Amino acid sequence: MAQETITLLQNKRILLAVTGSIAAYKAVDLASKLTQAGAAVDVIMTEAAERFVTPLTFQAVTGRPVYNNLWQTDSSGGLPTHIAHVGLAEGASLLVVAPATANTMAKLAHGLADDLLSVTALAARCPVVVAPAMDGGMYDHPATQANLALLRGQGAIIIEPETGRFASGLAGKGRLPETSTLIGHIRLALAKTGTLAGKQVVVTAGGTREPLDPVRFITNRSSGKQGYALAQAALDAGAAVTLITASDLPIPVGVNGIPVASAGEMQQAVLEHITKADALLMAAAVADFRPKDRADQKIKKKDDSDEAPVITLARTPDILMSVKEQRAAQGIPRVVVGFAAESEHLLTHARAKLERKGLDFLIANDITAADAGFEVDTNRVVILGADGSQTPLALATKTRIAEAIIELVASALI
Ligand code: CTP
Repeated sequence: MAQETITLLQNKRILLAVTGSIAAYKAVDLASKLTQAGAAVDVIMTEAAERFVTPLTFQAVTGRPVYNNLWQTDSSGGLPTHIAHVGLAEGASLLVVAPATANTMAKLAHGLADDLLSVTALAARCPVVVAPAMDGGMYDHPATQANLALLRGQGAIIIEPETGRFASGLAGKGRLPETSTLIGHIRLALAKTGTLAGKQVVVTAGGTREPLDPVRFITNRSSGKQGYALAQAALDAGAAVTLITASDLPIPVGVNGIPVASAGEMQQAVLEHITKADALLMAAAVADFRPKDRADQKIKKKDDSDEAPVITLARTPDILMSVKEQRAAQGIPRVVVGFAAESEHLLTHARAKLERKGLDFLIANDITAADAGFEVDTNRVVILGADGSQTPLALATKTRIAEAIIELVASALI
């Protein structure tokens, strides 16, 4: 499947400055993924970067000219003015320096202006993201650290390099993170002015696991995908997001991830984290029943008998009902969204659930449809509002459904 476009990157022009580190080859993947996601990517290369990768490579993956000469003018019509360093900076949404060498960081920190990148960086008024990448002791050197501190002080966002093996064979801190991590930070930088800026959102995701003994549990088919898409959409809208998750999917960059297993653990985490939240989205498939007793030791079979244990179930706490109680006392969160997976009488059951659980919105989905609900990447839902509204959304990816829900939450919080 082709990479899904990222709404936050549409109509955005991103300056990707590539400097002379061996990690320059990784910037090709970054340029490609950003382009596929919908951004217009203008690559600026330093002379040293061209020792590692050619301009043609970036030109091929971005479909746009590559800029590498301070004295060049631009006649492509892709920039607001033909003077390259001014045209590149003007109207750009973000300047990303990846990989950033120690030399480039020193120049940017001190305002030197002797090549296209350093001059453009001075002319740019957009946020700046810097992803250092270097070998050996260079990153830890006090001079590099002092320059990083200067850059931070000037408002630059620094992406922490990773620890591991370098091309030299040495190991240490200084590796450029994976493309997905870099894009996560780029999204965070672009989201700062979104509709949920300054708001706190709590999302739950995944199917809870109710333990039977130390190795076995009862769970359900929820993958957590819809909850994770909601967390990412809230993040892209500028919110501070806490994701209370029973799923093993990786936590999106910038999200405060709280892993939990059982309904009881999830309830405790939710009640604690909503005390500061503006909105709660309960996308988790919380088990309604758990094994009544959890054995301390693994339940063993008897070799000489066909006998099997009988498992007695008990009810789990209804998290949304306890949220309703806490909200009645404290008045927060202002917006609570529930989800209903139904296999029959979708709208009647969903409306009753919305009222019983005191929700502002309920996202109802019919789990009998093959292209909606558990495990798949698409969903088909109806959004019910406490005001009696009923909005069906056409079949769409879980990402697009999440964006529509987050838009509703943002307008309810105005
Ligand atoms: N939910 C919850 N605590 C539970 C079960 C569910 O907070 N113990 C939440 C879910 O996260 C979801 C909503 O309640 O947002 C509806 O979940 P669903 O399982 O569809 O509803 P139930 O209340 O369990 O009703 P039913 O038994 O009819 O399916």
